[in-house]
Amino acid sequence: MDKIALGPMPYMSVMPALLVGANVKGKPNYMTAAWATVACMAPPMVCVALNKARFTVKGIEENKTFSLNVPMANHVVETDHCGLVSGAQEDKSGIFTTVYGKLKTAPLAAECPVNIECRVFSSVDCGSHLLYVGEVAEIHADRSCIVDGRPDTGKCDPIVYAQSAYWRVGKQIDKAFSAGKKYRKK
Ligand SMILES: Cc1cc2nc3c(=O)[nH]c(=O)nc-3n(C[C@H](O)[C@H](O)[C@H](O)COP(=O)(O)O)c2cc1C
Repeated sequence: MDKIALGPMPYMSVMPALLVGANVKGKPNYMTAAWATVACMAPPMVCVALNKARFTVKGIEENKTFSLNVPMANHVVETDHCGLVSGAQEDKSGIFTTVYGKLKTAPLAAECPVNIECRVFSSVDCGSHLLYVGEVAEIHADRSCIVDGRPDTGKCDPIVYAQSAYWRVGKQIDKAFSAGKKYRKK
């Protein structure tokens, strides 16, 4: 390989396209977020980086709860809309059907096959963005998407975000924590 220095930038190869749900003054709001991942195993935690200017931030600060919702590929238009328009300008509460789970203040988008209910564990001020670490209070998954007690990627049909575009998950190429066993020293 012939590497070229591209300069510092917030790059990651692929990211999930998620919807962050938060109640702002009692009303559900959903925003698209791709800068999100798992943060801890025990206790289970996830994290998402939110620009301080987001309307969503007001709701998270108000309730100290939020949700990460995994939209399906067939909701790509609604998902992108939630990333184009701010709740400060437009009421986004009707784009998805809202239900509530354990925490009561983290709105869950019923049309998304997986909803992750979170209680704010901490927030790190990184500069333009706040990194919210959320302790997972509950995972709600659609019965038809569960295989062996876990959401099945093929059935959930999640949206992948990369190169300013939305993608579908491709074919499985091997098994994790297993493929490496075939490794032989050169
Ligand atoms: C694909 C995509 C990914 C995005 N990821 C993030 C993100 O991770 N963090 C963030 O702060 N904004 C992100 N945005 C921008 C927000 O979704 C956008 O500013 C939105 O209007 C904020 O909504 P709100 O003001 O109602 O919270 C993303 C937008 C798109 C289209």
